[in-house]
Amino acid sequence: MTRLEVPATIAMAQRARAMRGRGEEVLSLALGEPDFPTPAGVIEAAHRAALDGQTKYPPVEGTPALKAAIIRKFARENGLTYEPSEIMVSNGGKQVIFNAFMATLNPGDEVIVPSPYWVSYPLIISLFGGVPVFVDCPEETGFRLGAAALEAAITPRTKWLVLNFPNNPTGATTTRADLEAIAEVLRRHPQVHVLSDEIYEHLVYDGKTHVSIAQVAPDLKPRVLTLNGVSKAYAMTGWRVGYVGGPAWLIRAMGSIQGSSTSGICSISQAASVAALDGPPGVVEVMRETYDRRRRMVVSALRQIPQLTCAMPQGAFYVYPGIAACIGRTSAGGRRLDTDEDFAIALLEEEHVAVVHGSAFGKGPYIRLSYATSDDILRNACGRIARFVAGLT
Ligand SMILES: Cc1ncc(COP(=O)(O)O)c(C=O)c1O
Repeated sequence: MTRLEVPATIAMAQRARAMRGRGEEVLSLALGEPDFPTPAGVIEAAHRAALDGQTKYPPVEGTPALKAAIIRKFARENGLTYEPSEIMVSNGGKQVIFNAFMATLNPGDEVIVPSPYWVSYPLIISLFGGVPVFVDCPEETGFRLGAAALEAAITPRTKWLVLNFPNNPTGATTTRADLEAIAEVLRRHPQVHVLSDEIYEHLVYDGKTHVSIAQVAPDLKPRVLTLNGVSKAYAMTGWRVGYVGGPAWLIRAMGSIQGSSTSGICSISQAASVAALDGPPGVVEVMRETYDRRRRMVVSALRQIPQLTCAMPQGAFYVYPGIAACIGRTSAGGRRLDTDEDFAIALLEEEHVAVVHGSAFGKGPYIRLSYATSDDILRNACGRIARFVAGLT
């Protein structure tokens, strides 16, 4: 339990909520949660499912209807073929990760986590006695994972490599060439499995297309878990549905764990997810175009602040500006900013803007802003960040 911290993303959201509870207005760019409502057709499908009596315990690994929709999705969008025994549905992508690491990690097993990373990976790995091994993905290379850096991090104890593209927190995407180079390394190390977290798959910009490692390197597919979910693409964070395709032996083991913990996922959420996955792609496209517009708006506003550096992210709904020039300075409210966490706390206290410090994602001094919120909030928040930075001495 001492290894289990509250993720910084949640801690920052809690701080913001506490301030709101005191009647203070807070502009929150801290949480990775779409501001759109769940599409109406999805909600109607849930309603119908409830009225139709889909209210009993569902199968642990997922309803046949949702597994079939997931198989269609993987075939249609990723060129991946899975059998029903190779598919599992969980309470969000997070439970997929939890099941996978619980099923496979022995104390001391190493998991390579490219850094910056989503906060939950190392927390879950450590919970099961695993050792997260961080591999730096520098901003100069677009926060991408280099094959040489990966190779250098692999040891005989390496059991997993986590890939997360499009990436939380940087918004970095990957390319077929990058994945081919990574696959080449993995071929030399047959003990390494891959958890490919593709939950932001649909949110890519500038004409990019998402690529999956199991598609690029079909020979590695027997050791790849391809993780996805409905939370981000379909604005369904509260429905708690994530899913995964992978080798049947591992899916079976993960199913045993899930059967002894949460059992099958809410039957109504599963019916809703069928409607989401089989629904018209235009629904996702409208949200993607809105994120794209906001992305360009936020980056252009942040680039006008001379003390910040801001790469243009090509995926997800985050920007990850560098704040090195602000470290060591003092805020207008008299707070000394020794770290990016100091920056985030002072920004919240003095300008009421909630962001998450980059060191929580393994790489400072940066801050992560989520632009999955309204244009008004974004414009206002960027103005306050500019004012906060201009006030540093
Ligand atoms: C990279 C990444 N993977 C997985 C998840 C899990 O999402 P969920 O459990 O809602 O499916 C998140 C949520 O923030 C995420 O950012």
